[in-house]
Amino acid sequence: MTTPGIGQEVKGVIPGGPVGTTVTPVVVAVPKELAPGEQRVATVPEVVQKLTKSGHEVRIEHDAGTGAYYPDNLFTAAGAKIISSRTELLEGARIVLRVQPPTVAEVDQLAEGTIIIGFMNATNNLEAIARMRDRKITAFALELVPRITRAQSMDALSSQATAAGYTAVILGANNCPKFFPMLTTAAGTIRPATVLILGAGVAGLMAIATAKRLGAIVDAYDVRRAAGEQVRSLGAKFLELEINAEGQGGYARELTPEEKVKEQQMVSAAVARADVVITTAAIPGRRAPLLVTKETVATMRPGAVIVDLAAESGGNCEMTQSGKTIHEHGVTIIGPQNLPARVPFHSSQMYAKNLQSFLALLVDKDGALVKGFTDEILVASLLVHAGEVRHGPTRELLSGGKP
Ligand SMILES: NC(=O)c1ccc[n+]([C@@H]2O[C@H](COP(=O)([O-])OP(=O)(O)OC[C@H]3O[C@@H](n4cnc5c(N)ncnc54)[C@H](O)[C@@H]3O)[C@@H](O)[C@H]2O)c1
Repeated sequence: MTTPGIGQEVKGVIPGGPVGTTVTPVVVAVPKELAPGEQRVATVPEVVQKLTKSGHEVRIEHDAGTGAYYPDNLFTAAGAKIISSRTELLEGARIVLRVQPPTVAEVDQLAEGTIIIGFMNATNNLEAIARMRDRKITAFALELVPRITRAQSMDALSSQATAAGYTAVILGANNCPKFFPMLTTAAGTIRPATVLILGAGVAGLMAIATAKRLGAIVDAYDVRRAAGEQVRSLGAKFLELEINAEGQGGYARELTPEEKVKEQQMVSAAVARADVVITTAAIPGRRAPLLVTKETVATMRPGAVIVDLAAESGGNCEMTQSGKTIHEHGVTIIGPQNLPARVPFHSSQMYAKNLQSFLALLVDKDGALVKGFTDEILVASLLVHAGEVRHGPTRELLSGGKP
């Protein structure tokens, strides 16, 4: 299997472009996601149409969009080629777009020099990263895209956190024995449900907005005081501690042991009052902070629900089991995995737009691949290139902690 070098590609004509305009068509391949429960797809017909109009050849693996309700025929109508064999799909492909990181076996299917873009989750995929390094694959990790204004349209962490925050509230409402809104009916007045959101980052803010739209009374808490204004602007009450743990780059820092005690006292009182608690607290590169202890769960009302969005990184609730729903003291504790995959149509649409914006950095105005990866967004997100792991922390993990 061979992939042409940048200088060796065949020249073609931009469909619909000015007469005589030639471009270097870039072959973009989109495999079907094979990870269990993954329903999303890395591109959607609307984006395919834009890519093919710009002169790229887009190949979609048969059934790649079916799980997200984008059937093959919509991709064909948008100008893509549907290909059943993975080998044929990847033959000559210059760029591969994915949602989930590739497995080692999937890396082995790629030709040297292929550019692969998607979430790479390096800490949990060191073997595949090492294989990409050894096979001279170029990998861009979307989770490493810097959170700067210019990169907002490529911020897949944010788009997928938006999907997760929305879905968490729907899941909470679905498991709650109460209505969310206040109702005045002939059969009496129903008091609105109280929803508590812990962590008011991207997912938390979306959860607040969704719970408000459903008519609940919403309280929220975050260790970053700056989040207070955003919480209040959504019509929710911000629970304030005297701690402000704003760390680097707008993220939270880890609390000191004394701060953690104060936080848990305040959080426990708010959790005990809530009908639904959505937890979204995270600190980059660390285990999720523990906010709800098992003693606090024991003080909750019967029928209360916890949806722990941090389940996959250790959980914000001590009792959470990742991927499971458990019942303790009449409380339902849900530890969902991959919530964006539960709204695959729109999470794929947002993700595909993120990738479209990212691709615009990799392709120049003539439709050819850029010669070097000098843009600061490309530099920051370049995980593996030319036989080297470019991301320092991942390189250290691979060398067993040695720099
Ligand atoms: N392009 C941009 O400018 C851009 C894009 C997205 C996000 N951001 C900012 O980045 C920051 C992080 O967003 P995120 O959603 O990715 O964060 P995240 O997923 O890392 O964390 C979620 C939230 O948990 C909070 N948290 C951490 N420890 C906590 C604790 N002990 N108790 C309560 N809350 C705790 C964090 O402050 C954060 O708001 C935010 O300030 C957000 O506004 C900026």
